[in-house]
Amino acid sequence: MELPFAESWRIKMVEPIKKSTREEREQWMKEADYNLFQLRSEQVYIDCLTDSGTGAMSDRQWAAVMMGDESYAGSSSFFHLKDTINKITGFEYVIPTHQGRAAENVLFSHLVKAGSVVPGNSHFDTTKGHIESRKATALDCTIDEAKDTQLEIPFKGNVDPKKLEKALAEHHENVPFIIVTITNNTAGGQPVSMQNLREVRAIADKYGKRVVLDSARFAENAYFIKTREEGYADKTIKEIALEMFSLADGMTMSAKKDGIVNMGGFIATRHEDWYEGAKRFCIPFEGYLTYGGMNGRDMEALAVGLDENTEFENLETRIHQVEFLAGLLDEYGIPYQRPVGGHAIFVDADKVLTKVPKEEFPAQTLAIELYLEAGVRGCEIGYILADRDPVTRENRFGGLDLLRLCVARRVYTDNHMRVIAAALKNVFDRRNEITRGVEIVWEAELMRHFTVKLKKLF
Ligand code: F0G
Repeated sequence: MELPFAESWRIKMVEPIKKSTREEREQWMKEADYNLFQLRSEQVYIDCLTDSGTGAMSDRQWAAVMMGDESYAGSSSFFHLKDTINKITGFEYVIPTHQGRAAENVLFSHLVKAGSVVPGNSHFDTTKGHIESRKATALDCTIDEAKDTQLEIPFKGNVDPKKLEKALAEHHENVPFIIVTITNNTAGGQPVSMQNLREVRAIADKYGKRVVLDSARFAENAYFIKTREEGYADKTIKEIALEMFSLADGMTMSAKKDGIVNMGGFIATRHEDWYEGAKRFCIPFEGYLTYGGMNGRDMEALAVGLDENTEFENLETRIHQVEFLAGLLDEYGIPYQRPVGGHAIFVDADKVLTKVPKEEFPAQTLAIELYLEAGVRGCEIGYILADRDPVTRENRFGGLDLLRLCVARRVYTDNHMRVIAAALKNVFDRRNEITRGVEIVWEAELMRHFTVKLKKLF
């Protein structure tokens, strides 16, 4: 008999989680104004809000914490981190920051000016925010196929070379760099192929531009290249990562994802001028250059996390779990962004709650229903998150309306995945009885999803 697949680790420490009753959840949801960000974590049974900063560190990482050097300047922990980043990325210059958006803030302060145009593939919210707040434009050049949730192609996160070429032909004078997000979070944790990175490099070279990789989930991207792209099956994740970065000029990193630490980030680049430019903003915004917003102990844990999570077995265990959850949804016929990506399932709420009008926010309604059903917390990546059009102040209903269910790294077991899937199935089975959604009673002007107050119409 063939042995079944099993995790590449065993568990040394556990953290109890608590179930609740539907009555309790009804009350808590009401108190939270039907906004899942407003729940307290102890009111949640299985938390799928994000995979960011929620991973479980290994014994080696916890041991490394004890070796943290908290010196203000010249900390040995910084040099351990820098050496690891040099090895994994090939980038010589490293600036630590407190998280990914801080890396964006520091690097973009040097590079992005009013009127700049930054082409890329589905810029993440904070990336877009740091571009737009500088009166610049984030130009989305993702392939059109990413919008068709039922289309099954291996690299749905790719940049469309034709769109990129057009963007550069039109705006090259104002383009400070191209940014490629690996994996493409907004499109569903979808990977970008090596071939596509090569195409982006060629277009960038033609116009004399540099390329930044938003690398929050670069290791998962490398895993998909190894398992899906021709010619990479026999390469190690570290070899693939090095090749990916060789096609770029620098990176911003939220270490809270593939670095498997709870807080942290960095900028790395091969160009001294970018380093010198960004340095000027690190000191006032983040801190001195050898800590930049991180504790010495966190830099030690990150160095180990980066090394561990660029090993195949760790990534295989993780992606296998996300695929296991997707397999259960397939069995139940629940539609999601296909094929499943690296860090989450993105349920296509528009296709599930077909009776709930757009104006009543189907994905948010599905998120609330799932929480009420079993205490599973997901996150709306849809019409509420899309905010209003800055000019017309109308809601933006043009994109996808998805419920994102993130899987934290090394935290839950496959049994938890079964609970998530069963809870979703129960909601799915009564989807036709769900005809009303929610109404906004209060909202912030920007990034409203974090604080929006809602009224339930069902
Ligand atoms: N880039 C990508 C692709 C991200 O997914 C995130 C964060 C960031 C940058 C910003 O990093 O949070 O460390 O400041 N994504 C989280 C999420 C918040 O839930 O997807 P950060």
